[in-house]
Amino acid sequence: MLPEDAPARLALFGSCASKLASAGYDYLETPAFEDTELFARGVGEATDIVQKEMFTFEDMGGRSLTLRPEGTAPVCRAYVEHGMHKRPQPVKLWYWGPFFRHEAPQAGRFRQFTQVGSEVLGSDDPAVDAEVIAVLSDLLEAAGARGVRLRLSSLGTAETRRDYTEELKAFLRERAESLASDVRARIDANPLRAFDSSDASTQAVMKDAPLLIHRLAGDDAQHFAEVRALLDEAGIEYEVDPALVRGLDYYTRTVFEFTSDALGAQSGVGGGGRYDRLVEQLGGPATAAIGWAAGIERILLAAGGADAPRPAADVFVAVPKDERRRAAFVLLRRLLRDRAAVMGEPGRSMKGQMKQADRVGARWTVIVEEQGFELKDMASGEQRSVATTDELIEAIG
Ligand code: HAM
Repeated sequence: MLPEDAPARLALFGSCASKLASAGYDYLETPAFEDTELFARGVGEATDIVQKEMFTFEDMGGRSLTLRPEGTAPVCRAYVEHGMHKRPQPVKLWYWGPFFRHEAPQAGRFRQFTQVGSEVLGSDDPAVDAEVIAVLSDLLEAAGARGVRLRLSSLGTAETRRDYTEELKAFLRERAESLASDVRARIDANPLRAFDSSDASTQAVMKDAPLLIHRLAGDDAQHFAEVRALLDEAGIEYEVDPALVRGLDYYTRTVFEFTSDALGAQSGVGGGGRYDRLVEQLGGPATAAIGWAAGIERILLAAGGADAPRPAADVFVAVPKDERRRAAFVLLRRLLRDRAAVMGEPGRSMKGQMKQADRVGARWTVIVEEQGFELKDMASGEQRSVATTDELIEAIG
């Protein structure tokens, strides 16, 4: 992240912070690394993330640690460890920070990237599903992300998924010879990934595959119907995609993903879903929960570098290289109490410092004289003398 990218990124942070706070979310930070076990158990042993994308190392005590590849398992760990289930439910949290995945880097895909995410723990109400989706939709819109589309599906409960998985495995085994070798090798470990394959022959087979969405138990189907009805009410457009596969194993019921047509192959800007079993799996009480995460770098790419302007300096104080430097420094400290004020580079010629004032977009420039100050209005080019600091502050309003 270079300085020229900072204004857009900081503006995005500000917009996320204010939108999430006004929707009742509290900010939290979890450590950059955790016990490897947390991700192995939380994200799922069979996932790509755990199998090949984690930066795992041993500390000096021989413990296996992992740079966090995602934020949901750590948030659940913190929820359990800090007794957040005893607080009024649901607990609504959001986070922003660096995440790490050992993937082949390409446009929009990095080994260290930044996610903004939110998690709502302690409610299984479909209105919460609709609310978290709506919040992400609003954030992406406010960020100016272009060509955004929402895909939605439901995975049902773990039991429904288990029965369905057996049905799908049988379907895949019967057609094993037409499947790509990596799909075939993982029929038992992760048959759902077959829907994600880019292999043409596998895709042809999957056209006739049974769909989980047609196997949802009555209350799961009802839950999904209510989520859809609420999104319809809110005017949030989506496409039901029964083949939506998320790369993490903890999901139950609602899953969703926002993509952007403005991005290349890595089109996923943000996604998430329900994980009603995860807190319990990590040793906490049974707690229904849902959340999402979105990649900051991808949001900014999807916004097409819509420039957040660098905040212009208000006052530029040219600093001469003689004893007037002290008066300049005192003035700068005084101005900084309630204005944006930038110090010139001491020792540089006055001409050079005036150019610098132009470059930072200063509204006013002050040159410290033996007695008083020269004040230049950078817009009109008008210059005048003022005798005291108070007079100067009054003059610039
Ligand atoms: P995820 O879909 O794995 O979900 O990641 C969320 C977002 O992080 C992606 O949509 C993408 O924008 C960004 N992202 C992921 N990997 C990379 C990468 N290598 N480079 C750049 N950006 C990347 C999760 O992480 C879940 N924890 C979301 C969640 C929260 N589900 C429930 N709660």
